[in-house]
Amino acid sequence: MAFNQKDIISIRDFDKKDIEYILKLAKEMEPIARSEKKSDALSGKLLGMLFYEPSTRTRLSFEAAMKRLGGSTIGFAEAGTSSATKGENLTDTVRIVGEYSDALVIRHNMEGTARFVANIVDVPVINAGDGAGQHPTQTMLDLYTMKRILGRIDDLRIALVGDLKYGRTVHSLAYALAKFDVDVSFVSPKELKMPREILHDLSKSGVDVYETENIHEVLDKTDVLYVTRIQKERFPDPAEYLKIKGAYTITSKLLEGSDAIVMHPLPRIDEISHDVDNTPQGRYFEQAFYGVPVRMALLKSVIK
Ligand code: NCD
Repeated sequence: MAFNQKDIISIRDFDKKDIEYILKLAKEMEPIARSEKKSDALSGKLLGMLFYEPSTRTRLSFEAAMKRLGGSTIGFAEAGTSSATKGENLTDTVRIVGEYSDALVIRHNMEGTARFVANIVDVPVINAGDGAGQHPTQTMLDLYTMKRILGRIDDLRIALVGDLKYGRTVHSLAYALAKFDVDVSFVSPKELKMPREILHDLSKSGVDVYETENIHEVLDKTDVLYVTRIQKERFPDPAEYLKIKGAYTITSKLLEGSDAIVMHPLPRIDEISHDVDNTPQGRYFEQAFYGVPVRMALLKSVIK
């Protein structure tokens, strides 16, 4: 099994079978995540959590997942409370926390950090987001959400909407979807298109790439609208951000005549209006919950 005591750095390191295994295990974890059943599968185990970038759902759902399985967590939620502020380098910090823990979760603003850390420590390393790079556990929960709500991933028509340039969730998800038999369209302002090298990789794996700036073109031809936040913090120039801010807003009015479910990794700023929240189409809160059973499945698979 590809996940056995292995690092989870990029979704590209796993094949369709590996992903399906995790989705199946996540379904078994759901009653434990909902507190209907108890588990001590990871009792006595410690998860080290190193968050150098802000996080709510990812960090707390890893914590919930670990604790629901009887394990515990140590770590920091911002580098400001670690010895990084005294000038300690990343290598020393992760070496130490790696010694204290049975697995490490790391989020960092620099692409490639998780891979770098995996080469330093002996315990499994899980990438919780590295800059505009990858966010493989988010992708796993995104796929789980589709499968759980729509019953399948193959044959779906999925539109990725918003900041496709800097958004790591859509980079990971695009690579994962390429392993399935799906239709993917990319909807973004021209300044925030999916990076050419990713599109090139997708074409090579047989994905028909369709790009547009106009969301109306895809609305009645899509099963999943996967909406993302404009990644303000990754813009080299704030003036560029101001030009594009608010490029798309999904409202319940816009969704009239479309059957698509609306997903979003969250946090949402103004991309989805609140009137979508309680409609049968707005599924992002449910999606956020699925982060717990999916991360339980992953932790159970990688921790010895
Ligand atoms: C995302 C992230 O950090 O990449 N959040 C998350 O993990 N759910 C998306 C974002 O910040 O826009």
